[in-house]
Amino acid sequence: MAEAKKLFIKTYGCQMNVYDSERMAEALGASGYVTTDSADDADMILLNTCHIREKAAEKVYSELGRFKTLKAANPELKIGVAGCVAQAEGEEIMRRQPLVDLVVGPQTYHRLPAMEQAVRAGQRAVDTEFPEEDKFEHLPKGPRAIRAPTAFLTVQEGCDKFCAFCVVPYTRGAEVSRPVARILGEARDLVLRGVREITLLGQNVNAYHGAGEDGDWGLARLIRELAKLDGLERIRFTTSHPNDMEEDLIAAHGDEPKLMPYLHLPVQSGSDRILKAMNRKHTAESYIRLIERLRAARPDLLLSGDFIVGFPGESDQDFEETMALVRAVGYGQAYSFKYSPRPGTPAAERAGVPDEVASERLQRLQALLTEQQYATQDAMIGREVSVLFEKPGREAGQMVGKSEYLHAVHVTNPKVQIGQIARVRVMGRTSNSLAAELV
Ligand code: SAH
Ligand code: SF4
Ligand code: F3S
Repeated sequence: MAEAKKLFIKTYGCQMNVYDSERMAEALGASGYVTTDSADDADMILLNTCHIREKAAEKVYSELGRFKTLKAANPELKIGVAGCVAQAEGEEIMRRQPLVDLVVGPQTYHRLPAMEQAVRAGQRAVDTEFPEEDKFEHLPKGPRAIRAPTAFLTVQEGCDKFCAFCVVPYTRGAEVSRPVARILGEARDLVLRGVREITLLGQNVNAYHGAGEDGDWGLARLIRELAKLDGLERIRFTTSHPNDMEEDLIAAHGDEPKLMPYLHLPVQSGSDRILKAMNRKHTAESYIRLIERLRAARPDLLLSGDFIVGFPGESDQDFEETMALVRAVGYGQAYSFKYSPRPGTPAAERAGVPDEVASERLQRLQALLTEQQYATQDAMIGREVSVLFEKPGREAGQMVGKSEYLHAVHVTNPKVQIGQIARVRVMGRTSNSLAAELV
């Protein structure tokens, strides 16, 4: 048997890229590749990239520059760019960086084995189509390689919302939901291999409408069906849009015990004027009402969100409205970003807010969000939570895992195995994680 070729994949961006990287590794596994943790001994390097903000996209080019010496040392080394930068910039990457052999978009990576052959034959290959066929149907069907008791499972891809700032509808394409049977099959397989927690993924996951045996299923019904799987203990989903939060999904937070009490629900801004300019199609008020309904169903729901500051036209007053919304909601944790103009999006044409102003706003918003995060964590002290243990911690004897609320929790010298769920009492907070003792 020929010696296995080594594949190094570096993943940027969202969880869907993490999922895709695993699928790419499996696709190339069929061509004789095994993954390696080091770029130095790789026969193929793939960067699975993110285009969401300018900084994310630029990272790719600086990373590629660093591979020059590796390629000089090993002329057989092939370098590929996958993901959303690949989709957005395709041929441009080939022009800017001659050492790239292969560019593949998020919807065509099932074609990697054929592209790899072309590249080994000395060609450069680009494929950023939005093909007719479903890539999932052309990826290896065998069991997924499992390394942890938690796994991602893509159920929906793409976005039809076209928020004025966002590249996702262009890089991932139109909304597509995978059929129910395929998702249940993949989930069963994960559970058989020891997975206890599945996070359902989609750019707009709560818009899920997949074909079931009796017509279209929404996300709530899919979650309820998954919850019947013995051995699967926890279900999460991300990322949701406020406008697709349907009644049944809100109810599931109250009556489906396997659905974890954590929800990432981006709002972006607290100003209706800015929300309108962003094409978000919801208001600050409608978002707050929605949170109230969710909390009525599940009072201990921990909320997470995304915010953009310095969107074109954002005044001091608009920003204060964002701060007011954050105070009104009370987030357990959240992500916030300075607006970054993205080529091809409607907002890129509009005059921006001065950078110093945007930076100052971001600082204030992040200070408030961090304060809320710490307060939420501190409120856990003395309480009992369930932890799914995922790996050994940094210190000797430590094990770390996640609570229902997605808090990182570490316990010293517990008698637990990886993959086990145990009750613990939270004793304190150390910066970003909670210290606990087994009950
Ligand atoms: N599908 C998800 C996430 C999209 S990207 C959703 O709709 O919420 C993740 C986050 O990146 C967004 O929620 C937004 O806050 C941020 N983001 C997207 N485009 C951006 C841009 N041009 N500049 C700054 N932040 C951006
Ligand atoms: Fe982007 Fe808006 Fe779609 Fe989210 S809903 S992926 S922010 S266009
Ligand atoms: Fe980035 Fe593409 Fe995800 S742009 S956030 S990797 S969908």
